[in-house]
Amino acid sequence: MNNVDFYKAVKITDRVWWVGAIDWNIRDFHGYTTRRGSTYNAYLVMADKITLMDTVKAPFRDEMLSRIASVVDPKKIRYIISNHSEMDHSGCLPEIIDMIRPEKVFASPMGTKTLQELFHRQAEIVPLKDGSRLSLGNATLDFMETRMLHWPDSMFSYLQEDRLLFSQDGFGMHLATSERFDDEIDPAILEFEAATYFANILLPYSPLVLKLLERVAASGLAIEVIAPDHGPVWRKDLAGILARYGRWAAQKPAAKAVVVYATMWKSTEWMAKAMAEGLADGGLRVKLMNMDEVHRSDVVYETLEAGALCAGSPTLNNNLLPQMADVLTYLKGLRPANLAGCAFGSYGWSGESVKQVQEYLEDMKVKIVGEAIRVKHVPDRDTLARCFEQGRQVAAAVRDVVSQG
Ligand code: FEO
Repeated sequence: MNNVDFYKAVKITDRVWWVGAIDWNIRDFHGYTTRRGSTYNAYLVMADKITLMDTVKAPFRDEMLSRIASVVDPKKIRYIISNHSEMDHSGCLPEIIDMIRPEKVFASPMGTKTLQELFHRQAEIVPLKDGSRLSLGNATLDFMETRMLHWPDSMFSYLQEDRLLFSQDGFGMHLATSERFDDEIDPAILEFEAATYFANILLPYSPLVLKLLERVAASGLAIEVIAPDHGPVWRKDLAGILARYGRWAAQKPAAKAVVVYATMWKSTEWMAKAMAEGLADGGLRVKLMNMDEVHRSDVVYETLEAGALCAGSPTLNNNLLPQMADVLTYLKGLRPANLAGCAFGSYGWSGESVKQVQEYLEDMKVKIVGEAIRVKHVPDRDTLARCFEQGRQVAAAVRDVVSQG
């Protein structure tokens, strides 16, 4: 079945083994830069009905099979459960079904439709409704739909006997490591990568995250292990990652500003720098981000716990610079909330870019402070003083909101 036989499974609990794959080299995940790679976590539940929880991205099929084979003959798998149908978790599912021929494959009702739309196969997939329960003989799984976290099909599975929550994308991160547990990895790296993942993947669904956290808390489920589909398994700091999700999803503004800009001949950069100084003078922590030097996903990470977003672009051929269109389009889709800010930029003759930047900010429901600042060619001392003052005004607006809690 598989020429590769050196990969080993990692024991997670009495019944559960990690049998996923480590993608050390991935650097782009639909627009999000993944500088530390990722993992695609699949899990084997060694119950009477041996069950595979999710699979891996298609090119990693043999790695997963090798890890499974280090525990049990893959052909002994009876059930496969797809908690999330995105292709990083289902890419090799059709081949695995053909190879293993399990008794049943399960997914959420939306998952059965999505898998059909992805793979156009006739294989029957059994829908598991929200709140349903599945006996594995000597173990039991409960299912909870988590629509839009991350796709409409997503669901959590809870293994009662091991008090383990399979959370697919939830509580995950793109982090390739040889270690499998949270307590084996530098907490600062976990914090950064979990926040980056939340900001770039789950931010638009923050209201749903808050509801889900409430639902999990109200369920009274005893959870001792959280096993996501990316990154380490949480067995130590469960309270920490749950609390961070609550904080990030609440999107409360903080005393921090992000100034993001692109520049042609440094005029917009001088404006950005003057504005950043004004923001700092007004009492905010400031992150100045030139789109020629940073990636869009870094800007989203910095915006996650900010209170202000100021954006600047010169005009190029009646438009904003492409790198600003890139980051603003990406940001708009991720729907950051509760920000104040303003638009600025220089131009040579037509000068449309600042209005376009402001429209992006308005689409994001950024509270616009003051007039957008637009300067012909090079800013003089007075214009830079206006930018500084505008920064101070934005800072004051943020401080007002932060002080109201
Ligand atoms: Fe890890 Fe939404 O896929």
